[in-house]
Amino acid sequence: MEKILIIDDNKLIRKSLKETLSKVGYNVIEAEDGESGLDLVRSLHPDLVITDFQMPGIDGLEVLAEIRKLNIALPVILLTAFGDVVLTIKSIQLGAFDFLEKPIDPNQLKSTILLALNSVKVSNSLNEVLHEDASSESMIEDNILVGKTIQMKEIFKNIGRISLNKVNVLIQGETGTGKELIARLVHYSGITSNQPLVIVNCSALTETLLESELFGHVKGSFTGSIRDKKGKFELAGEGSIFLDEISEISLNTQVKLLRVIQELEFERVGGEETIPMKARIIAATNRNLEELIKEGKFREDLYYRLKVFTIDLPPLRERKDDIRDLVIHFLHKLNKRFNKNVVKIGDGVIEMLKAHDWYGNVRELENTILQAIVMSKSDVLEKENITLNTRQHQDIPVAIEIPTYRSLADLEKYHIKRILDEVNWNKLEASHILDITRPTLNAKIEKYSLTRG
Ligand SMILES: Nc1ncnc2c1ncn2[C@@H]1O[C@H](COP(=O)(O)OP(=O)(O)OP(=O)(O)O)[C@@H](O)[C@H]1O
Ligand SMILES: [Mg+2]
Repeated sequence: MEKILIIDDNKLIRKSLKETLSKVGYNVIEAEDGESGLDLVRSLHPDLVITDFQMPGIDGLEVLAEIRKLNIALPVILLTAFGDVVLTIKSIQLGAFDFLEKPIDPNQLKSTILLALNSVKVSNSLNEVLHEDASSESMIEDNILVGKTIQMKEIFKNIGRISLNKVNVLIQGETGTGKELIARLVHYSGITSNQPLVIVNCSALTETLLESELFGHVKGSFTGSIRDKKGKFELAGEGSIFLDEISEISLNTQVKLLRVIQELEFERVGGEETIPMKARIIAATNRNLEELIKEGKFREDLYYRLKVFTIDLPPLRERKDDIRDLVIHFLHKLNKRFNKNVVKIGDGVIEMLKAHDWYGNVRELENTILQAIVMSKSDVLEKENITLNTRQHQDIPVAIEIPTYRSLADLEKYHIKRILDEVNWNKLEASHILDITRPTLNAKIEKYSLTRG
């Protein structure tokens, strides 16, 4: 029988939690303040701790910090007041397994406890992963980075090493390996954490628009520029600018970017005033830049300016030992989002997932788990509900398949239909893959008169 320690100065809350948890078979012990709670942690070795945040004497965060110092894989769940985001982030940063907002929903409590205990049982607790060394403290809002394999730990350590310098960072990795998540970690774990992080997707804009996006423009500098506009470099200030899909910028823009990096200043499009550049550049690409250099599509000098520090994210198939942690993480994240309660992992599931090649990497794994959660009728993640993708659609550029379509609407219609067909018209999953809401998806289905088959 697992032992759960509840630390709360409110007797009524302790009583009601104890009742709920005893009923489902846990051995519950209680403490009325942080000090005595910590004593019980040392003497009775509970399997899990639930602690209130606000208590007389030492508070929940201090309890958490003390437990983390003991260096044991003991999951801690914090109870916080509703909507206290700062505290929430802080608690996860300090290594809480999770936080629950009051009033406590008993079902959510039970599912969180199961996940926490499960993650310890397989000795793959998220806490451990994130707090083995300080540099892997990687909680940014609700973006948790899971990674326990040597390759990922090495990456966390390196990020820790550069976190006090504002060097430019180049992140390379296949699609879905977590480049954006790593970019956020670089920004938020370092000296830039209190400064802005500005994200630019370089593939989404034409050359002219990208330049005005990056450097800003002055009124009248081109058709449609009706007022002065600050560019992303200006908005990033002394923080970071994340240039996603850097391989997609034109040679012209590359020259301009190089100049900014060399001279640390720039002008708005059509403007004369010189503006200093103080931001750090984090760039990401899923293409091989060295090959592009050979083909004359990417400037070598720019490449060297960007890759002062490089992070090579290994594909998921080369770090399959992270799969279990990732599954637990996604169950946790997606249960919450979709109000489901899949908290156990069926026999053979992990083995099955490990045997797959994951050409869409972590994103594909996340989508697979999402689909399984949606399909599941019990609290177990079952093999039957897992559909592994044998098509490698993530790697097929849309434009090659449909050269005759010209308008954006045509392309959108085609893409939405293709994704819907791929997931067998599971709209929840399709909206997740397309990264739009269900109502938006429905509206588009109607707009384009899309039908099955
Ligand atoms: N180590 C990880 N731990 C937890 N979640 C992860 C991890 N890596 C990736 N993810 C999740 O997988 C999804 C894809 O990650 P992300 O968008 O960062 O990938 P990417 O490399 O930028 O992909 P692309 O090249 O397609 O832009 C996101 O939902 C992200 O939260
Ligand atoms: Mg990305």
